[in-house]
Parts: sequence; C-alpha cells; structure tokens
Amino acid sequence: MTKIAPSILSADFTRLGQEIRTIETADYLHFDVMDGVFVPNISIGIPVLESVRKITEMTLDVHLMIERPHRFAERFADAGADLVVFHLEADEAADVRKAIDAVHGRGKRVGLAIKPATSAEKLLPYLGRIDLALVMTVEPGFGGQRFMEGMLPKVERLRKAIDAEGLQCEIEVDGGVNPETARLCRTAGADVLVAGSDVFRAADRAARIAQLRGELS
Ligand code: DX5
Ligand code: ZN
Repeated sequence: MTKIAPSILSADFTRLGQEIRTIETADYLHFDVMDGVFVPNISIGIPVLESVRKITEMTLDVHLMIERPHRFAERFADAGADLVVFHLEADEAADVRKAIDAVHGRGKRVGLAIKPATSAEKLLPYLGRIDLALVMTVEPGFGGQRFMEGMLPKVERLRKAIDAEGLQCEIEVDGGVNPETARLCRTAGADVLVAGSDVFRAADRAARIAQLRGELS
C-alpha cells in the first residue's frame, strides 16, 4: 500500500494543531525545513517540530533542505523526528555517512534526498545503509510547483536496485503530487508520496489522501 505524507508547508500555521488533525489518516507528516541557503526560502525548524511532536503520534518525516545537514541531523532526531531526511548534495561524503550513523544512533530512521539535477546513480552506494530515498520532482524550496515527469526514470532505477538487492529502503517522491501524478509515481515504484498543496486545498482531506493512495478512483 502506497503511503501518503502531507506536507504541512501548505497548512495554515496560525492553526497548525487543527490542520494536523485533518490529515491524521495519512501515513507520515512531512515537515519541510529550509535555511535560505540550500534553497531560496526559509520555513520552520526545531521549536515548531518540538510543538508538533507533543500533539501527534504521526510518523514525523523531516525533510532538511539545509546546507551541511550533519550539523543538525541529530538535533532534529532529538526534537521528535521519526525519520530525518537530508540532501546528498548538501554535505561532503564523509559527513553524509557521519550524519546517517548519528541519526541511527538515536534510534531514528534516516533518508537521503536528491534534487532534480542529481542522478539516481549517486544514491546507489547508500541504499544499503538508509531507510528512505527521496526523489525531488520539483526544485526544492516552494510548494505548489509543477511535477517533473522526467524524474520518474530515477524512481524506476531505484526500485530496480532496491528490489534486486532485497533492501528495505523506501522510495519517496516529493513535489507536484496530485491524483494524476500520484498514479505515475505508484506505477514507477514509489512507496511514499509527499503532497502539500493538493491535500491542503482539498475540501475533504481524508478522501484526498485515500485518492492519492489509489484507493478511490
Ligand atoms: C518543496 C518541499 C515539498 C513541498 C511540496 O521544496 O520539499 O515538500 O511542500 O509541495 P507540493 O505538494 O505543493 O508540491
Ligand atoms: Zn519536502
């Protein structure tokens, strides 16, 4: 069953607690952290994560769009993330490995993300030591952008590699997901679909989440 991860970047932050209640039938809560350096936007960070942790049992999927994430990965794990995902492009290889081990050392899951310009091959050496591979299907930084179909072969490539080696790593897709693009992602082999604007714009969010999973037509 495909998992859905609504991104609270598209929520109304003045009533975040109530907004979270409306998406609790989803599988993960996607929490986008931006530093204004790795991406041209600034969003939310550790204090908000700590507050969210207190009010929900949902799996918190924290997507770090920050430079040199090894500086902060452990702190996000301690602040309540269940899954800490950071960008392969944002750190030196040695620091990427250090951050993976640090998050695992906290008993949390860890993921690596790639931007549209980064090939799936770059992730292959890490698949055996991470829990999730995130393929960006928009340029990171903003919600509400158009899905890049040209990223789907990366999902297929990762699916093949993960299955061939019998690994547990999940494949997540982030950006521009709606019922039509969700179907393409599921077919390509994605396990987790992030959806921000599409879910938060919907009048019936639970129904939309079910639709993105492929449960409704
Ligand atoms: C973009 C973020 C996404 C974003 C997705 O940089 O990583 O998680 O919230 O938003 P939509 O689903 O609107 O493209
Ligand atoms: Zn994201």
